[in-house]
Amino acid sequence: MLEVSPGSSAICRLEEIPDGGAIAADIDSSTGGFSLILLRQGDRVFAYHNECPHAGRRLDWAPGKFLVKDGAVICAAHGATFDVASGAVLAGPCRNGLAPVPLQVRDGLVRLP
Ligand code: FES
Repeated sequence: MLEVSPGSSAICRLEEIPDGGAIAADIDSSTGGFSLILLRQGDRVFAYHNECPHAGRRLDWAPGKFLVKDGAVICAAHGATFDVASGAVLAGPCRNGLAPVPLQVRDGLVRLP
């Protein structure tokens, strides 16, 4: 799991995220910080808050370990399934999708804008 210090906009290098998979990144902030899930599809990276809208649990089954399959990420708590590219709900007990976080991928670095 990555930890990003305050003031740094670079989260990781693109190749640190497995293609078709995901990693977690802990972002430090003045309000105590938060966890992101970073999902990669080729050169594209999608980021969402690592918090399931169903019951507010983390999406990972162990820190930084996610269930990602066929373009979907599955919440480890009760199985809600979300589209990787949009965060929309595909199945499960949720009504709302994942909360997106804007990112930039430039020069092989994944950054907060
Ligand atoms: S907390 Fe994710 S499906 Fe319940």
